[in-house]
Amino acid sequence: MTQTLSLEGKVAVITGGARNIGKRVAAEMISRGAKVVIGDLLDAEGEATINEFNVSAGSKVAAYIHTDVTKYSDNKALFALAQEEFGGVDIAFLNAGIGTNANAMFLPLDDKVDNRMCDINTTAVVKGSKVAMLYMAKRGGGVIVNTASVAGFLCSPAVGIYAASKHGVIGWTRSNAIFEHVCGVRMNAVCPYWVETELAGDLGNGGDQDPFAKFVADSSRTKVETVVEAVLTLVEDKSRNAQTLLALPGDVIRPQEPIATYPEIADAKYQAMVPKYAQEAIVFYKKKLADALEREGI
Ligand SMILES: NC(=O)c1ccc[n+]([C@@H]2O[C@H](COP(=O)([O-])OP(=O)(O)OC[C@H]3O[C@@H](n4cnc5c(N)ncnc54)[C@H](O)[C@@H]3O)[C@@H](O)[C@H]2O)c1
Repeated sequence: MTQTLSLEGKVAVITGGARNIGKRVAAEMISRGAKVVIGDLLDAEGEATINEFNVSAGSKVAAYIHTDVTKYSDNKALFALAQEEFGGVDIAFLNAGIGTNANAMFLPLDDKVDNRMCDINTTAVVKGSKVAMLYMAKRGGGVIVNTASVAGFLCSPAVGIYAASKHGVIGWTRSNAIFEHVCGVRMNAVCPYWVETELAGDLGNGGDQDPFAKFVADSSRTKVETVVEAVLTLVEDKSRNAQTLLALPGDVIRPQEPIATYPEIADAKYQAMVPKYAQEAIVFYKKKLADALEREGI
């Protein structure tokens, strides 16, 4: 029987939650009994969003703090606010992302432009996960959902660096299955196809002559409701860990399975080593976690 996490009384941190996908997930979590703390760069929209949630609930169910997810200081302040306002963190939806300058190959050779895509879409997810892991370990467990994309599996030159950044989110998410056994924290990723938002309009963007613009305009769309349902599934279904869940047109939600290994690697010696390593790694990470909690004062 599937074990379900009830959202009643849970606390969720959501990055990039001022509008669109993040906001819709926040609204659904609140409707299922959770409190949410939103971090975003868009302060006016973020404040308006939580005001809307609090007025409609008739009590304080949401808080907002200006957050640049690329900075550890901001990530720490975001999770600290959730603890201060609502007593701790059970859920993190690391959803902030950009599509600007995704059509990168012949753009100027500018460090800032290319670093920014990977700093926000990939490295910030690593940073947010690390902070979330400590808060949730302290709480006795939790669940992190990262926003990847179908571009974490499928590629096009028009979104090359965006695809690279989202492949990174897939790799990070799948690497962290072990932490459920270390401290009860699951980590999953949602992988939507095109959703009608500002970000989708910005992706590619190689100018008027870019054939990708017509390609995208003529492509099907994933409904935002499908993305919301996929995220909630990854949160609530306790059997989902290190899972990459596609949110596709036609209301389709299904996992994208990873490659387990390769026969050239997984010989008999390797197969004997894997379970032994898994046991040793859990012990190793429990010790590392205790050190990290003490070092960070969380
Ligand atoms: N729209 C699509 O077609 C689509 C498809 C697949 C995946 N995604 C992913 O979904 C997520 C949400 O995107 P969306 O479509 O709702 O677009 P969106 O632009 O409305 O949402 C992204 C949010 O992230 C915030 N953000 C950007 N940089 C930030 C930073 N440094 N610190 C904090 N917040 C920051 C933005 O202000 C915005 O509120 C993104 O990660 C995106 O890559 C979108």
